[in-house]
Parts: sequence; structure tokens; C-alpha cells
Amino acid sequence: METKILDGKKIGAQIREEVAREIEAKQLSPGLTVVLVGDDPASQVYVKSKTRASRELGMRSESILMDAQSTTTEKLLETLDKLNRDDGVDGILVQLPLPDQVDEGQVLRAIDPDKDVDGFHPVNVGRLSLGDFVLAPCTPMGVMEMLRRENVPIKGAEAVVVGRSDIVGKPMAMLLLHSHATVTICHSRTRDLAEVCRRADILIAAVGRTALVTKDYIKPGAVVIDVGMNRIEDPEQALQLFGEGSPRLAKFREKGYSLLGDVHPRDPYGIAAAVTPVPGGVGPLTIAHLMKNTLEAHKARRA
Ligand code: GUN
Repeated sequence: METKILDGKKIGAQIREEVAREIEAKQLSPGLTVVLVGDDPASQVYVKSKTRASRELGMRSESILMDAQSTTTEKLLETLDKLNRDDGVDGILVQLPLPDQVDEGQVLRAIDPDKDVDGFHPVNVGRLSLGDFVLAPCTPMGVMEMLRRENVPIKGAEAVVVGRSDIVGKPMAMLLLHSHATVTICHSRTRDLAEVCRRADILIAAVGRTALVTKDYIKPGAVVIDVGMNRIEDPEQALQLFGEGSPRLAKFREKGYSLLGDVHPRDPYGIAAAVTPVPGGVGPLTIAHLMKNTLEAHKARRA
């Protein structure tokens, strides 16, 4: 079977283009503020790309950088209180993870649910569960959008979600359920994981375990969505995963590391009907949907 590579960059660009067009056509001015505590390099990269993307789309965008050591829960709550009361701010995003001394639950509960573009506030989690929501987590929303735009049948399909995080696994399962899939959620304690995954017409890997999903997890003709983003630095592991003579191995040897998903980089080909690559699959959709959520928050707040 020929396996289609699902191009997240292309679909992400389409979504961003649609957001930009609506902003332009309706003369809107959505504002997004991203709060970053600390100097984790990966988080810095994410925050930069979020602010850059929003400016490119004609939004107002600001990032607030706070010190890793001296930032307490109280200080962060004060900052959020100001942003909640600032009418020019439509979307607030606190980049995770937060330093250990900061109470993440308290912080996420302090964001005005109507400005919560991550969809992490308990009120928005509840709204998602009830199926009546405006703001839901960006990665699962992006995945749903990709499935729709690629005409993947969801109604009645067997969907298996590997991973039960609040950010991806749980909201992903809920969105698939609302679209009438038969949904199974798996995790580290699931018995016979490969066997359960092999039932899936739509298999979503979101556990953060490099190349966990191999040949024997994939039903022929399945659509495989890889939400994982793992960094590998071990040359032996790279050789084993990419194979001698492959372009990706050459690139690994040049750079000293590679980014890999939760799905084996070669195994789905010839078995799955379609697969998202890492990088360039789900990642660009997450940012695109953050833009969409910011626009939706702006419109809902001003309706
Ligand atoms: N860290 C990793 N993913 C995310 C996300 O989707 N939102 C936020 N705020 N932080 C993250």
C-alpha cells in the first residue's frame, strides 16, 4: 500500500491564511499575550514562533518573560490578573512547563476562561466535555482539522489514542468522540498495547516515547497521527531507527541529534494509508490553531 504523507506545514499555512484573511476583511485586532517563566530553550523557541506567527497574521502580540528562580505563584497570579483586566488582551497563554515552585493548577485556573486560548482552564475542559465550546486545546483541534481536510472518515471509525495527558490525549479523545468515533484511550498500563492499537482506523500517538509505535501496532490502511516530539542523540539508536545509508541518518551524523515522533520513522510506510511526519506534521497545526483560537476568543469577547 502506498502511504500518504500528511503535510502539516501545508494545512497549517492554509489555516493561518484563513485567519489572516478574516482579520483583514473584518478589520479585527486580536491580541495575544504569551507568558514564559524561565529560559528553557525549547520553550523559548515555541514562544518566539507563537509571537512571530501572530504578528504575521496581523494580530497584536506580546510576550512577558519572567525569571525562573524569583517567580512565585503569587507573582504570576498578579501578572495574570492584570492581563485578565486588560481589554486589549484577547488571548493569554502561559507556556508550560512551569518551574517547580509555581503551582501550575492554580495558575491555569487564574486565567479568564474566555481568554484561555490553550483551553486548559477547568471551565473550558468542562465545556469541551459537554460539546459546547469555543476554546479547546490547540494540538487536538489541529489534528481534527487535518483529519477533516484530508477527508479521513471519523464517524463510526475506531480511534485509538495512546496517551492520557490533559494537553493532548484527553481532549483528543473527547473531540473524536464528539465526531462520533469509537474511542479507546491507552496509556503506560494498558495490557496488550500493540493489539489494542491494531484495532485503530485512526491511531493517535501522544505519549512522548520515541518510536513506540512499530509495525505490529498498525492496522493495514490506518491513518497514523504522530504527536510525539522527542530528541535523540544516541548514534546507535539513530542507526537502528533510520537505517544505514538513509538521508535522515546522514543528517543526524551532521547535526548530532534528531527529532523523532512516537511512531517509528520507517515502519508505517507500506502499511498505513497515511501518516504525519515528525517534524512537519502535527507541530505546525498546533500553532495555526492557537492563531485560530485567539481570533475566536477576540470575536466571542466582542460579540
Ligand atoms: N507546552 C507544551 N505544549 C504546550 C501547549 O500546547 N501550551 C502551553 N501553554 N504550553 C505547552
